[in-house]
Amino acid sequence: MWIADTRRIVASVAIAVAAAFAFEAPPQSKDALSLDFEFFKTRVQPVFLAKRPGHARCYVCHSTGTTFRLERLSPGAASWNDEQSRRNFESVQRLIVPGDPLASRLLTHPLAPEAGGDPFHSGGKHWDSQNSPEWQTMAEWVRGQKAAERR
Ligand code: HEC
Repeated sequence: MWIADTRRIVASVAIAVAAAFAFEAPPQSKDALSLDFEFFKTRVQPVFLAKRPGHARCYVCHSTGTTFRLERLSPGAASWNDEQSRRNFESVQRLIVPGDPLASRLLTHPLAPEAGGDPFHSGGKHWDSQNSPEWQTMAEWVRGQKAAERR
């Protein structure tokens, strides 16, 4: 009698665990995970243009000379147009490991070493915590967040 009960309990626990995983699990494997252009354009790019106290903007240094290269803004424009955004999107790909923010140089280079960042960025450490909203936005994008899911 109690064996049947135990089986039932085990079965329902298994179902609950499976359901929890189905809900939590990322949609695909890392390789299949795709980075969303809209999310990049509307949420990540503003981080490159934002001014943080004590630091130059990412854009100021990274639109000239450096290997991480952002497009120059068109004269008078406050942001990148679609075509420029596409090129920025392509250019940051090699600094990203989809699904893994802490393996992505775009995220570890400007993050303080004490917070999980790498040792040195000549452009400075712009965030001293992974909880910074800007850092979180970039992390969401790397984890595959789509723009539409947030609307
Ligand atoms: C004051 C200028 C300056 C600013 C501001 C700056 N950087 Fe940099 N960054 C550099 C230089 C110079 C390098 C190359 C040397 C190095 O890696 O430290 C670099 C390297 C990088 C790299 C590595 C590129 C590669 O090809 O390996 C990343 C990623 C990066 N920066 C991201 C950022 C982000 C994101 C911001 C804004 C939050 C930012 N940087 C702000 C100057 C800057």
